[in-house]
Amino acid sequence: MTPRSTTVAVVGAGPAGLVLAHVLRRAGVAVTVHERLSRPALENAARAGVLEHRVVEYLRTLGLADRLTAEGERHGRCEIACLGEKVLVDYGALSGGIRHWVYPQQLLVRDLIAAYERDGGAIAFESPVEAVTLDDANRPVLHTAGGELRAEYAVGCDGAHSVVAAAFADRADGPTRRYPYDWLTVLARISRPVDKIRYAVHADGFAGMMPRTADVGRFYLEVPAGEELAAWDERRIRAELAHRLELEGSDPALGGLLETGMLRMRGRVAHRMREGRLLLAGDAAHTVTPSGAKGLNSAVADAADLAGGLIAELLGGGSARLDGYQQRRLDAAWQTQEFSDRLLDLLHLPAGLPAEQREFALRLRLQRIHRIARPGPEATEFARAYAGAGELAAAPVWPSAQAAAVASAATAR
Ligand code: PHB
Repeated sequence: MTPRSTTVAVVGAGPAGLVLAHVLRRAGVAVTVHERLSRPALENAARAGVLEHRVVEYLRTLGLADRLTAEGERHGRCEIACLGEKVLVDYGALSGGIRHWVYPQQLLVRDLIAAYERDGGAIAFESPVEAVTLDDANRPVLHTAGGELRAEYAVGCDGAHSVVAAAFADRADGPTRRYPYDWLTVLARISRPVDKIRYAVHADGFAGMMPRTADVGRFYLEVPAGEELAAWDERRIRAELAHRLELEGSDPALGGLLETGMLRMRGRVAHRMREGRLLLAGDAAHTVTPSGAKGLNSAVADAADLAGGLIAELLGGGSARLDGYQQRRLDAAWQTQEFSDRLLDLLHLPAGLPAEQREFALRLRLQRIHRIARPGPEATEFARAYAGAGELAAAPVWPSAQAAAVASAATAR
């Protein structure tokens, strides 16, 4: 049964919503989690899979990374192919030991759901929030099929079409960029694991090969913006991947294609992530292209920061931390956009470049690729930003938060 009121209503049970709900609940804050999808749909949606160092360290401190670190793989090298050269970027070494973890997002989501439920939390699956309005005291009211729910705070962790963002006066509008190309996405069985991310900067368009699990890989092909998936039959996809990635006998061979899609490439950052008691985290506030694998990571980083702010606000630690949330996370969102955009610029030739000018553009790119592969300031900066050096904001432990946590654990027993 849906309670009629709560302290924090979290809309969306993706990684950001689940991490936020988890940290709040552990501190003793009353939380509800509302998810549009069914549990199987959520737990099986193949999405990202490359986790930053700092995100995994944060999850580890919460005890949420056991399976991830047991079954995931550490990756500290990628390869960028251009003009017949395969340049190895040892970003793990260049960053002084900061590496990624590869672990599919849907497995992380399953782990987070399991941990939340183990702690006594409940997630309302297949419970879309239809709208969020404000009452006379500017407190959020969530409208669901099951009735109205009043909350002290509503947090939109519900993606690019967020219902919480829709309740902002400006609908959480902000600057956007539509890139002049899209990425055709493929999830495929593979004959052996992808041992490192491979980017192919190619006269016929970018292609990428990314790790997921031992027998599944994620592939990308640059296509013209607005291209229909129907224009690409399986034979054409396979031929183009093999051609641009220059797949050889020692590379993973593609087995069955499990999923194909068309990713409309755009970047977007809202002007605001907070309006009074409405807050946004992750894709609800900003969308980044997959380039650089930052979307999932920045969503969890938003959730970590927001959890700290809400706990301080609600449990006697003051308002300063929550008041700083928007500025800190908008700054971080722009850093993320700049990184992703810079990598996209390296990986794609300018739109409409005549064939006879492509080699020149590729040679310029090869210079940049060498600069991020060769030890030096540019390589260090790239490596640290790529792998996610640094730390996420840890949740504060205020005396009253501890007391509340103890009290709620006692009630649960
Ligand atoms: C991915 O894992 O899908 C991925 C990783 C790195 C990128 C882009 C995509 O730069």
